[in-house]
Amino acid sequence: MRISMIGTGYVGLVSGTCFSEFGVDVICVDKDAAKIERLRQGEIPIYEPGLEALVSSNVAAGRLSFTTDLADAVAQSQAVFIAVGTPSRRGDGHADLSFVYAAAREIARAMTGYTVVVTKSTVPVGTGRAVARIIREERPDADFDVVSNPEFLREGSAIQDFMRPDRVVIGTDSPRAQAVMRQLYRVLYLIETPILFTTLESSEMIKYAANTFLATKITFINEIADLCEHTGADVHDVARGIGLDGRIGRKFLHPGPGYGGSCFPKDTLALVTTAQEAGSPLRIVETVVDINARRKRAMADRIIAACDGTVADKTVAILGLTFKPNTDDMRDAPSLDIVPALVEAGATVRAFDPEGMGEARPLLPDITYCDDAYDAMTGADAVVILTEWNEFRALNIARMKEALAAPVMIDLRNVYTPADMVAAGFRYVSVGRPTPAPDAEAVAAVHATSPSPVI
Ligand code: UDX
Repeated sequence: MRISMIGTGYVGLVSGTCFSEFGVDVICVDKDAAKIERLRQGEIPIYEPGLEALVSSNVAAGRLSFTTDLADAVAQSQAVFIAVGTPSRRGDGHADLSFVYAAAREIARAMTGYTVVVTKSTVPVGTGRAVARIIREERPDADFDVVSNPEFLREGSAIQDFMRPDRVVIGTDSPRAQAVMRQLYRVLYLIETPILFTTLESSEMIKYAANTFLATKITFINEIADLCEHTGADVHDVARGIGLDGRIGRKFLHPGPGYGGSCFPKDTLALVTTAQEAGSPLRIVETVVDINARRKRAMADRIIAACDGTVADKTVAILGLTFKPNTDDMRDAPSLDIVPALVEAGATVRAFDPEGMGEARPLLPDITYCDDAYDAMTGADAVVILTEWNEFRALNIARMKEALAAPVMIDLRNVYTPADMVAAGFRYVSVGRPTPAPDAEAVAAVHATSPSPVI
């Protein structure tokens, strides 16, 4: 079986590579000739653990190739995946489908024989039918079906998510297309992955409903964290206590500075807009979007408060800029709101991120980029942990104190244990957890010997 993957962005490149690992012949297509050339040389444009090795072994095996020639690739393919971008349209929050529709037209012109056209990009309900209309308009004689097959890949663990998914969703009412999709995902049948066949519309809705639900879950625990701060409860105990209820589940209950990334902000907004236009507003999601936006600003205020109410003429070290660890992706990262707010309040910002600084530089031009975490902390009046990269989880406390002008840590990912940090002489602020008073040595001793909360 041979397929084409249109678009070599995050989703297209990971999905195409993983299908080739499943034994399928995959041609990845992109309009960007420079990108295709780099991929041919084995250079991977994104940071995703394990991807480079997987690309190179499948290229070497002759199952994976890269081209700018869409027509040639499509003509040879039994299935063509559309994995182009669907950014938020400025102004109305809708997903911008112009790339999807343009790809559909080009595919239509190039198809030979029965072809399954699969939307992999996250597209609003109704897009699959619109793609089918476009193809029919362009090529009334075409023999094809349109399928929705959303991705549920998390950046940083995308390969694992593709190879060992919780489920695969396939939306089509055509038995012929179902057979092609079954064949493509044959490897997952062998490991008994649930494969859910639905209509086009249900499949499109599943993707948005899943992301929106997860964004809501995070926002819920973030608000509970705020309440914990006012009541003396510990949000990690609360998250554990509710998460062990199988109906709630333990995952995605880690509080932080607000969700970011390429999916949650864009997809929540798009679903809100779809719902409003359908006359069936999703008020809960509207609120989630609003709370998450405010939260980022509130995090800047939290940092300023920890610095005795002002960061004017102070230096703040920021550890982590990407929206989450193990990615270089800066899209909708909380740092993009928090850092400018600090700069505006008069702070000098020194930042370090293990993979994200290349992407961050043009977006956050007014700060100093440092060589490592300790370099960032040198002379700083406070250090902020903004992304929970592993290397920030075990910083050397003595070296930190030596580097910092004042031992102040604002830990927005709850990486450290409050009692330990207080015992080490830090002013320590985190999210949703009580911090013992500095002189409460007995409390510190008790906490130091109890296991850290695991979420
Ligand atoms: C998400 C979905 O998980 C994935 O299924 C979908 O296909 C694409 O969008 P991704 O954006 O890569 O994946 O990251 P994810 O791990 O879901 O995290 C998203 C954001 O939520 C990050 O900013 C992260 O820091 C935040 N988050 C996540 C929390 O604040 N708390 C949590 O408990 C989990």
